[in-house]
Amino acid sequence: MRISDQEMMLKTDLPFDKAPPYRIKAVEYTIPTTREKRKEIMKKHGYSGRLLPAKYVFINMVTDSGTGALSDRQWSAMMEGDESYFYCRSFEFFEESVQKFTGMPYVFPSHQGRSSEAPIYEVLVKAGDKIPSNTHFTTTSAWSFQRGAEPVDFVCKDYLDENNRGWFKGNMDVKAFEEYFIQHAEKIPLVELVVPNNLNGGQAVSMENIREVRKVIDKYKKIDTQFYLDIARISENAWMIKAHEPGYADKTCLEIVNEMLSHADGCHMSAKKTGMVNMGGFIALRDKKVWQKMQPKVIRTDGYITYGGLSGRDLESLAVGLIEGVNDYYLQDRQRQVDYFANACKKRGVHILEPAACFAVYINAGKCLPHLDHTQGPATCLSAQAYIEGGFASTAMDSLQRGRIDPANPLDVSKRTKAPYELIRCAMPRRVYFEPHYDWAAECLARAMAWGDKLPGFKPIADDRPPLEMSEIGLHTFFDDYEPVFPLP
Ligand code: F0G
Repeated sequence: MRISDQEMMLKTDLPFDKAPPYRIKAVEYTIPTTREKRKEIMKKHGYSGRLLPAKYVFINMVTDSGTGALSDRQWSAMMEGDESYFYCRSFEFFEESVQKFTGMPYVFPSHQGRSSEAPIYEVLVKAGDKIPSNTHFTTTSAWSFQRGAEPVDFVCKDYLDENNRGWFKGNMDVKAFEEYFIQHAEKIPLVELVVPNNLNGGQAVSMENIREVRKVIDKYKKIDTQFYLDIARISENAWMIKAHEPGYADKTCLEIVNEMLSHADGCHMSAKKTGMVNMGGFIALRDKKVWQKMQPKVIRTDGYITYGGLSGRDLESLAVGLIEGVNDYYLQDRQRQVDYFANACKKRGVHILEPAACFAVYINAGKCLPHLDHTQGPATCLSAQAYIEGGFASTAMDSLQRGRIDPANPLDVSKRTKAPYELIRCAMPRRVYFEPHYDWAAECLARAMAWGDKLPGFKPIADDRPPLEMSEIGLHTFFDDYEPVFPLP
């Protein structure tokens, strides 16, 4: 018999602040490698965590998306998956779970985050519109471009101040947003807040910020502007609110998630993160008419509206994982692990972006390798060298790889925007690694950093791929390749 959601929340004096509230039932082995082999692999596979064959990676923090371990509760629910095409039993269970999580009545399953964004952008956004956000994820900015609209980011000033130690540096700059909104209100059908702000250091968003954005929309809207949250990691953001925003210490993370979403008209989720599944997502919203307009779009590409590209067993796993991932004991332990890794880095002199986020540690590679400037890919270099040191894979998010590019000169790095920080994202898979892994990952980064100016800058490799379309421009990061100007040690 499965442990129930209620039992998982019982009061306890067990040390769940020091050890995970779960144990291990299945394990996954790693192929042993040597330094020479890893050097060879790196060279052959484009010096990037994204291109490395995963089988040769010891500790994989390239992404926390779909990389978590399922629980016994999820596996057993999967055996109950109903694979009927229309209105399967599993959909009812899924719908109930999403309604409990979001407080919203209308729900679509989808096979991942970006496929849940598609009908939202198709129904709400048209050419000439402007879509403000704290910082769009790559796919929502691509959907904006695809619709002929312009994604606009309002990054808060605290994030740009390296010495700021605030807990909510993922917030939208509400003042700047307000001025912009007053000017363009009739062209803004949708405002998006990404909670937490993945592309800006994974920083959390406060409840106050969500409330303020809502107020600006209500005060100045000229059309039916919808306010949506991109909630891939909302449960972990809720933990940050519980831990650091006054007035929330005694609320459960589920209550906090409910309150965050009470200010929104709708949301879309890549459930591959705090939904605790390997594949899956959803849309939830309040407006029946908008929901009805989305239905044919979902049917056209993802099958029927009660499965959205997922099998019955996926719906079961997601329904269980969504509530498991917002459990307070689990989230407390998750944050403890992030903090442990952040401290393991700092102890070894590896510079991180402060504060550590709630799902990842972002390494400030610009500070680790000061001899490389933003055109030379310090994060690209440090991330590649850390793999050579000890099989640790991560994602470089520096200006070289992530700067917005000039569509007319996609290979001209000098035309690329400079990112506020040259970051490596070490995104932590859920329920997968333990302290010795985090220590080793930090050790790899420290050993890489110790090479100092013996580490080379990187430059783009010209290729003859057909150019990307304007709407795909943010996706260049998946196709551009780089090489070091001299060999890595
Ligand atoms: N929104 C956010 C904030 C995301 O981080 C992602 C994916 C998506 C939407 C899209 O979801 O991948 O399920 O289609 N982020 C992954 C990452 C890829 O590594 O950060 P998806």
